[in-house]
Amino acid sequence: MSTRKKQATPAGTDVPRHIAIIMDGNGRWAKRRLMPRVAGHRKGVEALRGVIRACAERGVSHLTVFAFSSENWRRPQEEVTLLMELFMRALENEVARLHENGIRFRVIGDLSGFSERIQALIRDAEALTRDNTRLTFTVAANYGGRWDIVQAMKKLMAAGVSPDEVDEAALAQKLSIADMPEPDLFIRTGGEQRISNFLLWQLAYTELYFTDALWPDFDPAALDEAIASYRTRERRFGRTSEQVRSAS
Ligand code: IPE
Ligand code: IPE
Ligand code: MG
Repeated sequence: MSTRKKQATPAGTDVPRHIAIIMDGNGRWAKRRLMPRVAGHRKGVEALRGVIRACAERGVSHLTVFAFSSENWRRPQEEVTLLMELFMRALENEVARLHENGIRFRVIGDLSGFSERIQALIRDAEALTRDNTRLTFTVAANYGGRWDIVQAMKKLMAAGVSPDEVDEAALAQKLSIADMPEPDLFIRTGGEQRISNFLLWQLAYTELYFTDALWPDFDPAALDEAIASYRTRERRFGRTSEQVRSAS
């Protein structure tokens, strides 16, 4: 086996370095309360605030959340508009607090789909927080895993890379979160058990965790349950259980 393949096996740790979350169930949370869907999205922002803080306190170094998929444009125009407003308001109101807490903020996705105003807020927030190291908090917005792989391929081709030179490492380097460790733990709230075109490439060996909790109800205790489940997993990366145990 090549050294590269051996090195590609990350050491297991108790606390996931990188958690990726599909925050789902806002609409149902609101519907159960006979409230408009946007009320669920608003409550979802609050839940996210708690989860960011909890991740920082628990020593998670990367948190990546799915806020708006490239497919979510298919929703009713009114909901899309309200989601954009909410995103803009969150950018205006939350970034200073993230910065005070030593959190680096990033956005991944096809930003050309957003208004000039939102794009400018994103650029400013990323610039302000770029040297923070406590936690990197990444929002996937107008993001799709397939889009990410295609844009990476386009970058390789534009750089004149020949087919012989294309390998997994070369492609991975051009993906949106190339500089981050791959997610150790994936969480999806809202009961659905699917990836919905989130980080397709990067989730290849991620431990998956699905919960029926709706995103607005997902609090730090729920996060701890997910992390506890993660701790019980044996990450073999293709090897046998015996190999894993003798290596640790
Ligand atoms: C997730 O909640 C938030 C976004 C996709 C923007 P949903 O809005 O999908 O909530 P449900 O799935 O309808 O309950
Ligand atoms: C996935 O949620 C995307 C986000 C949470 C932003 P959806 O609720 O849009 O996913 P599907 O369409 O049910 O798979
Ligand atoms: Mg949903």
